Amino acid sequence: MILALLTAVLVCWVGPPPAAAAGTAMQPGEACLRRCGNIDIPYPFGVGSGCHLETGDWTFSLSCNRTSDGRQRLYNYQIEVVDMSVRYGQLRIYSLINPWCYNSSTRGMNGQNNWWYDMSITNFRINDALNRFTVIGCNSLAYIRSLNDTTDLYMTGCMAMCPGVGRLENGSCAGVGCCQTAIPSGLNGYQISFEEKFNTSGTSSFSPCSYAVLLEAAAFDFRTAYVTTDEFMAANGNQVPLVLDWAIGNKTCHEAKLNASAYACVSGNSDCVDSKYGRGKGYLCNCSSGYDGNPYLLNGCQDINECEDQNSRYPCSVPGTCVNTIGGYNCVCPDETSGNAYNGTCEQKKSQIGWEIAIGVSVSIIVLIITASCVYMVYAKRRLAKIKSEYFKQHGGHTLFDEMRSRQGLSFKLFTQEELEEATGRFDERHVIGKGANGTVYKGITKDGCVVAIKKCRLASERQKKEFGKEMLIVSQINHRYIVKLYGCCLEVEVPMLVYKYIPNGTLYRLIHGRRDGPRIPFTARLKIAHQTAEALSYLHSWASPPIIHGDVKTSNILLDEDYTAKVSDFGASTLAPTDEAQFVTFVQGTCGYLDPEYMRTCKLTDKSDVYSFGVVLLELLTCRKALNLEELEEEKYLSSQFLLVLGENRLEEMLDPQIKSEQSIELLEQAAELARQCLEMLGEKRPTMREVAEELDRLSKLAQHPWGPPDSGELVGLLRSSPSPTTYSGHCRLELGSSTRNVSFGDTEYIGIQSPR
Ligand SMILES: *[C@@H]1O[C@H](CO)[C@@H](O)[C@H](O)[C@H]1NC(C)=O
Ligand SMILES: *[C@@H]1O[C@H](CO)[C@@H](O)[C@H](O)[C@H]1NC(C)=O
Ligand SMILES: *[C@@H]1O[C@H](CO)[C@@H](O)[C@H](O)[C@H]1NC(C)=O
Ligand SMILES: *[C@@H]1O[C@H](CO)[C@@H](O)[C@H](O)[C@H]1NC(C)=O
Ligand SMILES: *[C@@H]1O[C@H](CO)[C@@H](O)[C@H](O)[C@H]1NC(C)=O
Ligand SMILES: *[C@@H]1O[C@H](CO)[C@@H](O)[C@H](O)[C@H]1NC(C)=O
Ligand SMILES: *[C@@H]1O[C@H](CO)[C@@H](O)[C@H](O)[C@H]1NC(C)=O
Ligand SMILES: *[C@@H]1O[C@H](CO)[C@@H](O)[C@H](O)[C@H]1NC(C)=O
Ligand SMILES: *[C@@H]1O[C@H](CO)[C@@H](O)[C@H](O)[C@H]1NC(C)=O
Repeated sequence: MILALLTAVLVCWVGPPPAAAAGTAMQPGEACLRRCGNIDIPYPFGVGSGCHLETGDWTFSLSCNRTSDGRQRLYNYQIEVVDMSVRYGQLRIYSLINPWCYNSSTRGMNGQNNWWYDMSITNFRINDALNRFTVIGCNSLAYIRSLNDTTDLYMTGCMAMCPGVGRLENGSCAGVGCCQTAIPSGLNGYQISFEEKFNTSGTSSFSPCSYAVLLEAAAFDFRTAYVTTDEFMAANGNQVPLVLDWAIGNKTCHEAKLNASAYACVSGNSDCVDSKYGRGKGYLCNCSSGYDGNPYLLNGCQDINECEDQNSRYPCSVPGTCVNTIGGYNCVCPDETSGNAYNGTCEQKKSQIGWEIAIGVSVSIIVLIITASCVYMVYAKRRLAKIKSEYFKQHGGHTLFDEMRSRQGLSFKLFTQEELEEATGRFDERHVIGKGANGTVYKGITKDGCVVAIKKCRLASERQKKEFGKEMLIVSQINHRYIVKLYGCCLEVEVPMLVYKYIPNGTLYRLIHGRRDGPRIPFTARLKIAHQTAEALSYLHSWASPPIIHGDVKTSNILLDEDYTAKVSDFGASTLAPTDEAQFVTFVQGTCGYLDPEYMRTCKLTDKSDVYSFGVVLLELLTCRKALNLEELEEEKYLSSQFLLVLGENRLEEMLDPQIKSEQSIELLEQAAELARQCLEMLGEKRPTMREVAEELDRLSKLAQHPWGPPDSGELVGLLRSSPSPTTYSGHCRLELGSSTRNVSFGDTEYIGIQSPR
């Protein structure tokens, strides 16, 4: 382990192996001349042995000779070199201008020089794209052709005409005084000659010489003086640049790579490029994209800092920041922006939706949804609470509530909607114990175990709604044994609900009319119920000021307790009596058959209206007929009007229930009928008060129980007198008491019944 570490340390100390690994192509020495005059000499070119790439020919071997004029000139073989490019694989040399001149002394043309270049000893090709064969002169035709020994024979030429000196134009080498022609590709040698048939002898006066040369087109700019003078030769020193392409060896890249020791592309990050002149014409090396330098040198290709490259334009879009990387660069948008920093634009960050942003956004949305739901739920709850509180307020709940607080010990409760829903199983149909025109009554059990009847009205008038709380306050204080106890109400609903004590034995209506074969109820019991009802109404009329008017007295509003005690109920139509004219009730309410005709005429509900209605109830008890019989003839429809009719004709007995006729003396029944008649007086004033009615009924009740005298005991409030052992009975009537049915005998002297609990 330690040994291994030591080894590693040692290796580090020694350092990496030498860059020039064995087997790679030779590299130039440090001492090699890299510049001649003002010309750079990049490898593979070099002056002297060991300084240039050896390819077995003269291609890269240069000599730097100081000429007679003192200048250093660079030569490749015998050709003067202008410069060279590793990147483009080019070498620029000087091409000699070939003149052909008129000799005025000999009056003929001088002999022409057959200029030729032969580059077959080097691996050069004449670049056909950059060079042009150019002829200057008047009436001059010159040719350029490949060398004799080459198998591919090319020949082309052009002719420069001179229609007149005035037609010559600077910069235009298009046939007038100057012509140019392209050369074929792949030439590595050429020779130039003039056509002797066309000579300047005819134009020698202003154009003595013609010139033909292969030159770099870009470096040539035609001057009119070139035709008329020797300026072309003089200005350029008899020579003009010519671009040559060079290549390494005569192998392709693929072939060259097989011999690593001869492979020239030694730099990392370099590529090999086959010569464009085809197979067998060698290869070139080039630095890979993003690198620059000399691929023929070890580590010659260096990363280009594109960001600071002065020669090329800034590589990124303007707001982008350029970051150089090895072999390339990155364009980065400034902070808080995103987009295409290369050649697009950077924009404020928003499209850059990475995972983080996506997750962030999702989480935000979820949080938002949850929050919104919560807010909505709270809102909905508040809204509901608000609605409830609105109703509560609307129904005068606050007044009631305040009153209730100030009056301690008031046994009245404000129920919530939930409490009542719970008590009735969400107002289930099975809990319905009564259905009427103006509402439904449900039986329910409150949380504290009270059995209650909940009256849910269909609708209430605006006035009722408004004064409901106030009314409730009054009604809640009514505590009378013959009036159904109102436990409380629920104000937080549109139509307030009333919660009464549950009265188990149904209504008086059911007791009288519920059986097809008659009520089977003794007259004394009827009188007792009538008396109790009258007491209740009297209490209502006298208890409060202004008096409370029931407004809808009828047999179906008189409930019967376990022991058949009357319990006046339903204050749905009950109203406080008005204290002044303006407050008179302005709508007719009540039940047909019971309605006070005076009230119908005047629309004034008074306590005497209750007296009239009570009169009808009394008639029902006496006759066992319904208050309104739609099956009967017109005059017999209304029990009240038929009764008055019959009474007027002294035919009362016909109307009376046969059962009570057998029970009681006709005198007593006539007295009861007389009381009813008084109640049914057309003028309210003439009717007795409820107090007077109650007293009369009390008197009659006592008479009926004890025809021979006053009762021996005032404690008996029950329907019948108790018997020590009332096990078997016989008589006319089956009386339903609670859940058991007993046969009861009704004699003149003995009454059997249930004693009220003390
Ligand atoms: C390639 O060049 C070498 C000398 O460098 C020569 O011996 C060989 O014959 C040439 N091969 C071809 C196909 O020209
Ligand atoms: C350059 O000089 C070398 C010797 O110094 C000579 O061999 C060569 O011919 C010269 N080249 C030219 C073009 O003068
Ligand atoms: C070398 O690469 C550069 C840019 O990549 C290119 O312009 C040049 O022409 C290449 N040279 C050759 C000889 O293919
Ligand atoms: C003209 O020709 C003669 C004889 O051949 C020669 O000596 C002379 O140099 C020539 N003149 C020019 C300008 O070429
Ligand atoms: C030049 O051309 C003329 C005719 O245009 C001809 O007579 C003369 O021989 C030619 N000279 C030469 C040297 O060919
Ligand atoms: C080409 O052939 C012509 C004659 O046929 C001759 O004058 C010239 O010198 C030759 N050129 C070369 C480069 O051998
Ligand atoms: C061509 O340019 C030269 C100066 O370079 C000028 O003297 C000559 O007059 C010009 N020729 C024409 C035809 O414009
Ligand atoms: C590989 O190149 C070296 C150096 O140019 C040469 O000496 C050797 O003979 C070459 N090997 C082959 C297999 O061509
Ligand atoms: C620059 O834009 C062009 C066209 O819009 C596209 O083809 C090219 O890939 C872009 N360059 C960079 C570096 O994004």
